[in-house]
Amino acid sequence: MGKLVALTLLGASLALIGERLLNFRERVIKSIEPQNCHLIEGLENGSEDIDILPSGLAFISTGLKYPGMPNFAPDKPGRIFLMDLNEQNPKAQALEISDGFDQESLNPHGISTFIDKDNTVYLYVVNHPNMDSTVEVFKFEEQRHSLIHLKTIKHELLKSVNDIVVLGPEQFYATRDHYFTTYFLVLLEMILDLHWTSVLFYSPKEVKVVAQGFGSANGITVSLDQKYVYVADVTAKNIHIMKKHDHWDLTPVKVIQLGTLVDNLTVDPATGDILAGCHPNPMKLLIYNPKDPPGSESAFLQNPGPPAQGWHLPNGLGPTVSMTN
Ligand SMILES: *[C@@H]1O[C@H](CO)[C@@H](O)[C@H](O)[C@H]1NC(C)=O
Ligand SMILES: *[C@@H]1O[C@H](CO)[C@@H](O)[C@H](O)[C@H]1NC(C)=O
Repeated sequence: MGKLVALTLLGASLALIGERLLNFRERVIKSIEPQNCHLIEGLENGSEDIDILPSGLAFISTGLKYPGMPNFAPDKPGRIFLMDLNEQNPKAQALEISDGFDQESLNPHGISTFIDKDNTVYLYVVNHPNMDSTVEVFKFEEQRHSLIHLKTIKHELLKSVNDIVVLGPEQFYATRDHYFTTYFLVLLEMILDLHWTSVLFYSPKEVKVVAQGFGSANGITVSLDQKYVYVADVTAKNIHIMKKHDHWDLTPVKVIQLGTLVDNLTVDPATGDILAGCHPNPMKLLIYNPKDPPGSESAFLQNPGPPAQGWHLPNGLGPTVSMTN
């Protein structure tokens, strides 16, 4: 009897693994030459996230070391770069970080900026020192091109944090991309496709789970009117549109399937459209071969916000989705 149970379990696990691999199967993408794109000097080894201020200054996090993911400069600590997009040929410059912050341990993931009433710019950085998760708060000193470290936020719910979006002084939403924190259990979580990851709300007074059930919650951002929160579920290949309520709770509005692994989200400040960075070939991404790179594509979701009359529309009348790679 015991053997039968074991065999059944083994069969079921194999079926699940097979199904997962199928989900990760390769998609043939046509390679196109990006027209107005060029490699930025200093960022050749890849970058993680970008946040652009209304003034045109962009912060970029680089050098993420993440279990299972390729890294092109494993011996270099992470850095935050600044670019002035108003310049004709913008250059990326690594920002100085004030003394007292252990720069060698900087392993930056998602970032988000916040501008207060006095126009002071704060940069919030998801950090993984020694594979732990913290949120580092910096004040940006534009004249000195530097970041002053103000505080490290740690909380038992802030584990496996991927991205954040700051909406008030020390008030933010954050995504967890895994439920477990040890490598083996994370692997199991992915194979079994547990959908145990969540979105958290953090403030100094209250930290809580505001949405859960994602395969792997990744990029997060808000609509221009700050009434909706957009969450990318990378393994489920979709974007969740959620309504933000008083007390920061979120309720689901709509899920948009994209058929590609959705990673970072950006809202166009002029139109409110969503731009998503996506991975069409996760297998190639994991087994990185520079001779046969995995490729990437971006999805463009026009007018993602609910129309004035709400979302009670026949299927298919959602936002327009188009892809480029
Ligand atoms: C990129 O990585 C290579 C190999 O580790 C290293 O030699 C080089 O300095 C890195 N470039 C930058 C701009 O960090
Ligand atoms: C942003 O995108 C990059 C490349 O797709 C990815 O490696 C990184 O995890 C993403 N960052 C966040 C915070 O989603």
